Amino acid sequence: MTEALLGGTFRIGGDLDVHRLGFGAMRLSGPGIWGPPKDLDEAKRTLLRVRELGIDFIDTADSYGPYLNEDLIAETLAPYRGLSIATKGGLTRHGPDKWLPVGRPEYLRQCVLMSLRRLRVERIDLWQLHRIDPAVPRDEQFGCIAAMQKEGLIRHAGLSEVSVVEIEAAGKFFKVATVQNQYNLVSRESEEVLGYCEKKGIGFIPWFPLAAGKLSEAGGPLDAMAQRQHASASQLALAWVLRRSPVILPIPGTSKVEHLDENVAGAKIHLSDAEFRELDELGRAEFKKKGN
Ligand SMILES: NC(=O)c1ccc[n+]([C@@H]2O[C@H](COP(=O)([O-])OP(=O)(O)OC[C@H]3O[C@@H](n4cnc5c(N)ncnc54)[C@H](OP(=O)(O)O)[C@@H]3O)[C@@H](O)[C@H]2O)c1
Repeated sequence: MTEALLGGTFRIGGDLDVHRLGFGAMRLSGPGIWGPPKDLDEAKRTLLRVRELGIDFIDTADSYGPYLNEDLIAETLAPYRGLSIATKGGLTRHGPDKWLPVGRPEYLRQCVLMSLRRLRVERIDLWQLHRIDPAVPRDEQFGCIAAMQKEGLIRHAGLSEVSVVEIEAAGKFFKVATVQNQYNLVSRESEEVLGYCEKKGIGFIPWFPLAAGKLSEAGGPLDAMAQRQHASASQLALAWVLRRSPVILPIPGTSKVEHLDENVAGAKIHLSDAEFRELDELGRAEFKKKGN
């Protein structure tokens, strides 16, 4: 068994089984998530290694690149043979690091149709609304997603950066299969949403599981414990998030095979109850230091 499989599985939407430790493809884009990756060959090697390691869940979005991330995944990995590609739509791009929501139903529909074409699939396994557009009634956005699901364009539907109230509102239109919110050892704003997902069996996909790399840095908050455990800080951060809840599907991102191998090995770390609590407290203390 490869290490990626040791994190166990989760059933998305009641019928799509994936290994909980997935891969976030966003970093296979240029600076500011704009344009192609700096090292295209290494980006392709990283994607191929994802499959080789037994990871069967990749997260992307039409806005990464934009478009180029989905193209790269399809070029490198299609036909997917048991690999599920989750994508997102509803954010437009106006330059590096600029993300603007557009939730008008006619645009969301175009997002899905174009992701289908770029990913070379007939149905998207998991399509996520990247952001609810505050300028468009949310029910119009949810209704459009429900219609696309009924039509068979998307298999399961998810949301990103939402509150419990928003999940419940969307749930009146379609079954919310997953929620993708920022969450990691030191970013705990979504504890309530995570608790709700646990209760309802909704997959919780924490974005920035490594705090965008901050938890991986030497001299960071996990350094001392990592040295004691003979593990890397990234591995501890991932072991903690995997242990935190059985509905969590972490999607750590990297543009390098070496980092991917290191991160995936985090799934084999067994944290004792005391170690889990120590990490948890350490994370909460860092979270409070940020003024929360
Ligand atoms: N829904 C949303 O709004 C949203 C927002 C952001 C992200 N996401 C999703 O979440 C995924 C994960 O987020 P992310 O990739 O931004 O953050 P992350 O997984 O927390 O961290 C990735 C960063 O950490 C570095 N890193 C990874 N492994 C490392 C290691 N072993 N040692 C040292 N550095 C390491 C990477 O650099 P290297 O490339 O150098 O390894 C990269 O810069 C994305 O790919 C995307 O799919 C979703």
